[in-house]
Amino acid sequence: MSNPRPSIPPGPPAVAIPVDQSSSLWERISTWVSENKAVVYTIAGVAVVFTGAGVVYYLNTPAEPQTPRLSKKERRKRKEAERKAAESQNNVAAQPESKEKAKEQPKPAAVEAEDELPTITEESVANLTTDQRNEYADRLKRAGNKAYGDKAYNKAIDLYSQAILCKKDPIYYSNRAACYSALSEWQKVVDDTTTALSIDRVYLKAINRRAKAYEELKMYRDALVGYTLACIIDNFQNQSAANAVEKLLKVVATEEAQKRMADRKQTLPSHTFVNNYFVSFRAKPRPAGLEDSDELPAGSGKEQLRLGLQALEKKTSTGYEEARQAFDKAIELGDLGEFEGLAYNMRGTFRCLLGAHEEAMADLTKSIELDPSMTQSHIKLASMRLEQGDADKAFEDFTTALAANDKDPDIYYHRAQLHFIKGEFAEAAKDYQMSMDLDRDFIFSHIQLGVTQYKMGSMASSLATFRRTVKNFPKCPDVYNYYGELLLDMGQVNEAIEKFETAVELESKNNPGSMNVLPLVNKSLAIFQMKQDSAEAEKLCQKALEIDPECDIAVATMAQLLLQRGNIAEALTYFRRAADLARTEFEMINALSYSEATACQLKIQEEYPELVSKVRSANLV
Ligand SMILES: *[C@@H]1O[C@H](CO)[C@@H](O)[C@H](O)[C@H]1NC(C)=O
Ligand SMILES: *[C@@H]1O[C@H](CO)[C@@H](O)[C@H](O)[C@H]1NC(C)=O
Ligand SMILES: *[C@@H]1O[C@H](CO)[C@@H](O)[C@H](O)[C@H]1NC(C)=O
Repeated sequence: MSNPRPSIPPGPPAVAIPVDQSSSLWERISTWVSENKAVVYTIAGVAVVFTGAGVVYYLNTPAEPQTPRLSKKERRKRKEAERKAAESQNNVAAQPESKEKAKEQPKPAAVEAEDELPTITEESVANLTTDQRNEYADRLKRAGNKAYGDKAYNKAIDLYSQAILCKKDPIYYSNRAACYSALSEWQKVVDDTTTALSIDRVYLKAINRRAKAYEELKMYRDALVGYTLACIIDNFQNQSAANAVEKLLKVVATEEAQKRMADRKQTLPSHTFVNNYFVSFRAKPRPAGLEDSDELPAGSGKEQLRLGLQALEKKTSTGYEEARQAFDKAIELGDLGEFEGLAYNMRGTFRCLLGAHEEAMADLTKSIELDPSMTQSHIKLASMRLEQGDADKAFEDFTTALAANDKDPDIYYHRAQLHFIKGEFAEAAKDYQMSMDLDRDFIFSHIQLGVTQYKMGSMASSLATFRRTVKNFPKCPDVYNYYGELLLDMGQVNEAIEKFETAVELESKNNPGSMNVLPLVNKSLAIFQMKQDSAEAEKLCQKALEIDPECDIAVATMAQLLLQRGNIAEALTYFRRAADLARTEFEMINALSYSEATACQLKIQEEYPELVSKVRSANLV
């Protein structure tokens, strides 16, 4: 129905796998979010949608019935409007953002002559009647506004202070804060606006002003809460406050991500991730000399190398960790003979999976020097170049690899992935075809060809490719998973769910205990899309997480589903977890943007329960 959307990711990891899977995770989720308007989360009738670019707030056109709450909101609005009117009459300080304009305005005609103004002190005020206090307060405020307009900030501060002695009006505090703001005395701005807000909790100007001061004081999280609160209160009318939210979210998330990346413990990603990485290469038998039956000296590098390759075959997370350690040890022990290139390739691969890219590239480069036939090392190098954003360099790697062996189907497959990512679908299709011609048994070339045809708009040939692939590989879960995704994209949700179910069944049969959980997650999303049934969708995600607790996609999906249900606190735990699982800084910044935004909303919800006026559950637009 809809045109092919950009959310079909270029299939099983490949050149791109680490890259592409990681960068597309959030993209995929956010595309899904914005398309389905499903994973929005509402607070005070405002839907918050996260996108790859940051947080986007949508006004959730509230089809509001007449409720007592509405009238409360109305009252608040009216109150705000009245105050605005009062302020704009004569209150220059209330609009420090338009100082220039204010200056151009004719000065108020009847400004008090200074000597007529009473000097108010703590003692003298005690003797005044209420009426007198009110009168003096008003006169002092107006004089203060004039001084502010003349940029005589210290004088204005003195006048507002006297006005405050007469009357504890939040406007006076907020105006005095504007003076401190002009003088860059940020802590005093915070103090005064905080007092103003203790009197009037939803005083928009004070909220904005305090947020700005927090920002200047580098108290970014407080600033973020302030600007977000301002956005919610004025229904996102103020673009500069919304921009401030986006900017601060990025600042906070980036700062936090850099801190975490620096002292992050490097661990392997989930078994689902690692599985996907390895299946993007054709399975190669262990080389002669490293088979189970070969006699190898105990405690030798070669023995460790074999141990690593054996552990790899288990396809479990403990297996992968064993393999990683064994490859490290193999190189430490040395004396690897003809297998040295392979050992460096394997250690480099695991370093890449750990996110230690420089070390990984050094290993892979060395492995090619030692053994120029290590085409996989070229491919893996290309994948890391791509992750660094250097597609040209990646193409060079493929060219070099093909010079070494132009009959290696892996090279064509991965180059196709690169073309795909760059949107060069015709070239991609050609390379997938080449890879298939050289080896018809590698299923991902078939699957990806189908996906590419779909992207090129050839619906019929794409479906034909998938049907043929299902027929030729009836026991392979991946084909059902991708087929399902295609059907989902075409709006055939029921058929899609069927395919995902088949994929789940085959996965659990083929890899009991360490199955690829993505089909489960896919099914969860499809169920949610079809039935808007968050509970059932969550159950499926939960199941995925029991099997692979580290699966970042499952974690992030779960967070979104919880948000959708209005379970903000729990969503936050999952977003935090997603940040913990992030492998790259880019991924981590994304995850942290979500978690920071969620934490901020949670805080507002706790502090301003009266703003949460809308149903927080299934508020689907
Ligand atoms: C306030 O009034 C009291 C008595 O009415 C008087 O003694 C005192 O001087 C006055 N204080 C000021 C500051 O005017
Ligand atoms: C809009 O937001 C900015 C930034 O917070 C603030 O300085 C400004 O006063 C706001 N404008 C209005 C009309 O509230
Ligand atoms: C379904 O799973 C595949 C990986 O097997 C993934 O690439 C794809 O994006 C998933 N589909 C959705 C809708 O998340």
